[in-house]
Amino acid sequence: MKNILLIGGSYGIGLAIAKELQYECKIFIAARTNELSSDLNITYIPFDATTDEFDTSKIPTVLDGLVYCPGSINLRPFKGIKPETFESDLNLNFISLVKVIQTVLPNLIASEQSSIVLFSSVAASMGMPFHTSVAASKGAIEGFAKALAAEYAPKIRVNVIAPSLTDTPLADKFLNNDVKKEKSAERHPLKRFGKPEDLAQMAQFLLSDKSSWITGQIFHVDGGMSTLLV
Ligand SMILES: NC(=O)c1ccc[n+]([C@@H]2O[C@H](COP(=O)([O-])OP(=O)(O)OC[C@H]3O[C@@H](n4cnc5c(N)ncnc54)[C@H](OP(=O)(O)O)[C@@H]3O)[C@@H](O)[C@H]2O)c1
Repeated sequence: MKNILLIGGSYGIGLAIAKELQYECKIFIAARTNELSSDLNITYIPFDATTDEFDTSKIPTVLDGLVYCPGSINLRPFKGIKPETFESDLNLNFISLVKVIQTVLPNLIASEQSSIVLFSSVAASMGMPFHTSVAASKGAIEGFAKALAAEYAPKIRVNVIAPSLTDTPLADKFLNNDVKKEKSAERHPLKRFGKPEDLAQMAQFLLSDKSSWITGQIFHVDGGMSTLLV
């Protein structure tokens, strides 16, 4: 059974990943909220990615997969975004991710072949107004992931999933009434916004041996948003 560490996973896409994987992997969830359903067969590790150093004594010495879920969607006109907001977005989305990966690197290397799955956003590849901060943070992840994949091939695979709007607590303010839901669905070529499971199933594939010949890729799981004009 593979050992998989989810940074984040108490809700949102991370929780959907835990649900997909719970019968085939040993799951460790490191997050701030300890309100996980007792039905889930997982080990919970209290952890704040922005302030804490990850304690590797809480996970097995062999780690087969790592998923980093914390992220932000701060949408504002560029002239009104303070540099501190860029910094805090970059810290949560990227710098904390780098720290976690460096900390658990020996555990990932101990696996025959491990898999890292990171989350970008449709906004990293598609220019969208008011997205400068999130686009910068997620753009950093995409470049980093390709370089890391090159450096650690064939031992560690590194792939990125770039979602469009997905129905999770993070996106609640964009989907909290029927008008917003309809407009959001309509904007996507596939005429709906994302469900956490849409992303979780891609993550499940990327963590499994079925994707053992795939690394350094950005997967646009976005209802066709980033590539189709319909
Ligand atoms: N939802 C979307 O529309 C959308 C679109 C594009 C990209 N994405 C990206 O997809 C990823 C997952 O998004 P999501 O919608 O599932 O987000 P979410 O609903 O906010 O869930 C994030 C998860 O990360 C954990 N987390 C947040 N801050 C943390 C911290 N400081 N330390 C440890 N854990 C932390 C949260 O748990 P705790 O609060 O318990 O710590 C939660 O389990 C993010 O990187 C996001 O940027 C999402």
